[in-house]
Amino acid sequence: MNMLDLIIKKKKGLSLSKEEIEYMISSYTAGKIPDYQMSAMLMAICFSGMDDRETADLTMAMTDSGDRLDLKRIDGIKVDKHSTGGVGDKVTLIAAPVAASLGVPVAKMSGRGLGFTGGTIDKLESIPGFRTGISEEEFIRNVNTDGISIMAQTAELAPADKALYALRDVTGTVDSIPLIASSIMSKKIASGSDAIVLDVTVGSGAFMKTEEEARKLASCMVRIGKLADLPTRALITDMDEPLGSLIGNSLEVIEAIEVLKGQGHEDTREVSFEIASQMLIAGGKASDREEALRMIGDCISDGRALKTFRQFIADQGGDPHVTEDLSLLPKARIEEKINSEKDGYVEKIHCDMVGNTVKILGGGRQVKGEEIDPAVGVKLLKKKGEQVRKGEVLAYLYANDENKLKEAQKLIAGAFVIGEEQPERGPLILDIID
Ligand code: URA
Repeated sequence: MNMLDLIIKKKKGLSLSKEEIEYMISSYTAGKIPDYQMSAMLMAICFSGMDDRETADLTMAMTDSGDRLDLKRIDGIKVDKHSTGGVGDKVTLIAAPVAASLGVPVAKMSGRGLGFTGGTIDKLESIPGFRTGISEEEFIRNVNTDGISIMAQTAELAPADKALYALRDVTGTVDSIPLIASSIMSKKIASGSDAIVLDVTVGSGAFMKTEEEARKLASCMVRIGKLADLPTRALITDMDEPLGSLIGNSLEVIEAIEVLKGQGHEDTREVSFEIASQMLIAGGKASDREEALRMIGDCISDGRALKTFRQFIADQGGDPHVTEDLSLLPKARIEEKINSEKDGYVEKIHCDMVGNTVKILGGGRQVKGEEIDPAVGVKLLKKKGEQVRKGEVLAYLYANDENKLKEAQKLIAGAFVIGEEQPERGPLILDIID
């Protein structure tokens, strides 16, 4: 077998056999296939696709490329949560402590930013002292004592995905259903939870641009979960504008803390609580959505969810006082207003442009492994459907570098579409597939 033949086969739109997929993944992980050949294969998959059987085989080959985490030392039904990516998506920072405070053990591995979307690990690392590179022992101990731990994907867990994820990020090969489904599900299967709740985002700030594509991706992952004996449910959520009002690493931690205190943006609350409610149902703590939402309301208003978040930060070396004193989080030096050039209504906010604005400011990576700036980002003052007057502030940019700010200003100005008619706002939760 050789990689060149496989690239040509996929380019012609033919299916790869299980053996061919296993050869490709194990050889690439062992460093026997160069990045340029794997990049060509990824591009061929983007154009030619993969059928369900190939996607399931790719998932299992990636799962088997490394270790599987054994979570049997944790009692209870461990529920994992994963988003297909978004802009301003701080849902994990809220849903995980909420579910943990209500008795669902959360032992979660998370990733860094990808493309124009942010990553939970980068956000958590904006908390002074917070360690995401903890050992498996510490991870399990934290879940057993405080019900929650989130760590960076280890090199031993699905190493094929780790390598492919970084390669896809810099070769324009992220937005392919089989590649996203196998990337997510290989990590989820290897990380040992008993059930998964997936947040499949759709819109200009997501990898899936249409509801049809999002449904295909959600169904594909639910089917892979079934084949792997891992109960999986997926929510389809709107990501046509950024979630909530703050986008950027430490800024999203701020919004998450606000929501855990019963404040924060209503859109962030809605999506986070809906995901948390599915985690409670999957974890056997609530029998239906209504009961789950009631329980969530209680743990927010009596402070249990915030207390769990604070304990989680302290367990992983972070400064828990950030929950009371937001000024302890990294803060950008420059605050710049973006004003509306005319009267009207916000017709649309190009979500990918907002994500790229944060990236340009330094909040995301342009090349593999780059350092990021945790303090920079965007605050949206106006969202879709809101009325604006000429000169009114649409958004604030937070920057630490004048040149990056200039570039970001140009991009964010084009992200807002101001029209004469007030547009309708659609639902945020489009469907639940299980
Ligand atoms: N999240 C992942 O883990 N993988 C992808 O490919 C996209 C989003």
